[in-house]
Amino acid sequence: MQKIVILTGAGISAESGLGTFRAEGGLWAQHRIEDVATPEGFARDPKLVVDFYNARRAQAADAEPNEGHRALARLEHHFDGDVVVITQNVDDLHEKAGSQKVIHMHGALKSALCAACEHRWPAPLVMAPGDACPSCGAPAARPDIVWFGEMPYDMDEIFDHLANADVFASIGTSGNVYPAAGFVAEARRAGARTIEFNLEPSLVGSQFDDIRIGSASQTLPLWVDEVLER
Ligand code: APR
Repeated sequence: MQKIVILTGAGISAESGLGTFRAEGGLWAQHRIEDVATPEGFARDPKLVVDFYNARRAQAADAEPNEGHRALARLEHHFDGDVVVITQNVDDLHEKAGSQKVIHMHGALKSALCAACEHRWPAPLVMAPGDACPSCGAPAARPDIVWFGEMPYDMDEIFDHLANADVFASIGTSGNVYPAAGFVAEARRAGARTIEFNLEPSLVGSQFDDIRIGSASQTLPLWVDEVLER
């Protein structure tokens, strides 16, 4: 059975109105990573961090998937093999489009995490610093987001997928952040054919067998047609 492993980044959600991180005027031009996306930033000013993710949760709740997300859901449902999406995105647009096998390696806006006991529960639309954990009662709720300096989720499962990949596709990610930026090398080692979808080659673009330049909402439906017709 053929296996397609897909990595997505902020670029696939850009056309749904969710800003990317490293574009001019992107999220990291408006906010300092150290302030809103590190454990130290959260310890210093939990309200700033919780409010940052509240704003992003509200935006994501209103966003609709685009043709790129829909194409990947179509691939999963019609491909005669295995398709898994590993996403760095914390929005739920893959799920809204109908994808079922989605790994959120950087966490999810829809989830809250207890910093004391690691219990997870559905995040309310608006979290507040010091919200109580519904399991242990500690006032230690935090957004269930993997911050810089923390270990991404499900890495064992992800490396298993990469080791068995026949095709590895990377979509809308700049190649700045590891371990995700290293997945193409891992997939190549496993013998996978590799393909990148982006507006421009990413930092690791030279490692791909094929690059499709263009917006994901246009390039992905064509690629999925190609794969399904093969
Ligand atoms: N179609 C395809 N690619 C696009 C589109 C589009 N419509 N719009 C933008 N892109 C590409 C950009 O060219 C860029 O390479 O998406 C990429 C977005 O890059 P980043 O903003 O760096 O986002 P990402 O790679 O997902 O960031 C990785 O860094 O801080 C974090 O944790 C956060 O998960 C995130 C990680």
